[in-house]
Amino acid sequence: MSNVIVIGTQWGDEGKGKVVDVLAEKARLVVRFQGGNNAGHTMVVDGESFISHLIPSGILHPDKVCLIGNGVVVDPGVLIQEIEHLRGRGISVNPDNLIVSENAHLIMPYHKLIDHGRERVKGDKKLGTTGRGIGPCYEDKATRRGIRFCDLIDEEMFKDKLSCILGEKTFYLKEFLKSETIDEAAILEEYLPYAETLRPHVANVSVLISEAIKAGHNVLFEGAQGTHLDIDHGTYPYVTSSNTVAGNACCGAGIGPTRIDAVVGMVKAYTTRVGAGPFPTELEDEIGDRLQEKGAEFGATTGRRRRCGWLDTVVVRNAARLNGLTGIAMTKLDVLSGLDTLKIATAYQYKNDTLTEFPPSIKMLEGCEPVYEELPGWTEDLTQAKHFEDLPENARNYVKRVEELVETPVQIISVGPGRQQTMVLQDPF
Ligand code: IMP
Repeated sequence: MSNVIVIGTQWGDEGKGKVVDVLAEKARLVVRFQGGNNAGHTMVVDGESFISHLIPSGILHPDKVCLIGNGVVVDPGVLIQEIEHLRGRGISVNPDNLIVSENAHLIMPYHKLIDHGRERVKGDKKLGTTGRGIGPCYEDKATRRGIRFCDLIDEEMFKDKLSCILGEKTFYLKEFLKSETIDEAAILEEYLPYAETLRPHVANVSVLISEAIKAGHNVLFEGAQGTHLDIDHGTYPYVTSSNTVAGNACCGAGIGPTRIDAVVGMVKAYTTRVGAGPFPTELEDEIGDRLQEKGAEFGATTGRRRRCGWLDTVVVRNAARLNGLTGIAMTKLDVLSGLDTLKIATAYQYKNDTLTEFPPSIKMLEGCEPVYEELPGWTEDLTQAKHFEDLPENARNYVKRVEELVETPVQIISVGPGRQQTMVLQDPF
């Protein structure tokens, strides 16, 4: 029996959905613990592509139970749409295999209006949020004015909480953000039916995880976004509003740290970022365009073009320390085929100093130039490789060099979107 966390080491979009889908085979429960429908996880099974934003990537396995922990912020309308979409494609989703924590906070219509309104008011200085109301929802959670699933399924409580908070939200939207507003009747009309649909799915996730662990089952914790979008450890303020690091799997799911056995860090073989914020190895040239095109680097949630650049091991080492990584899952190695020379950032030059640790201030980070090491590339197509030995020597050397620089073993290598395009060199369970 073991419990494994999968998190992103870079700025998200490392391919967690695919690897979670593959690892879910070994687990009984798959648990989301933070973020919301700002995430977008793509899974390809038998050539069919599935994108989930809220429902854990384990849902494609008929015998798995997917849990949405207390640390997730949930837009109930999106959750219902996702359930219906999956059902429409023949995937069974029911109260036995999809459960939401009664303590998870609800994204409300005013959260989305505030998210959009703030970005508009900020103009050029906007963060480039996904516009899903994530930040404003976490903000209400922290100021103890949030509305949770346990409130949604108690009509009186829901109405009470809504009427307490709505006046202030309306004032802020109208007077400060000069935005449209939404009235109480419209929210009740939309949200009360959600309560009826979702009630059978609401339960105590912490207890369910604990029971599964006691029964000897494996549990897989699925992170969203990436370490450098973490509210504390990322490139603040160009971050999301939750802790994306592995430590938050415990808080966001309701289990103790002693229950965790392994932490797998997702590393894309190059780096991408969506939204604004510093990105030292960004390539604004034809190599960047090539990675973007070959890697189909468009956000699964917003469809935005992702910024692309070389692999940055200052970033990945930072993540190895912050998350206590026990292994790496490297994705999209196939996208690097055909480049004569590959570069890996090993340090940053900042004025007269060489930095080997990721700097805490974004002002400093913006002034950093990457120090690169060059490795020879390869021309072969990797997408059919089944074993590490099938990879060309230069691709194997690239992987080994990353292991050395990050001081963490590469346990999984992905060479394409399909389940079968995955080499598990060491099983994290
Ligand atoms: P928010 O999470 O919508 O508030 O957006 C804050 C920042 O995090 C923006 O730069 C987003 O582009 C970024 N972000 C949020 N979720 C993801 C994700 O799943 N992948 C990559 N970037 C994300």
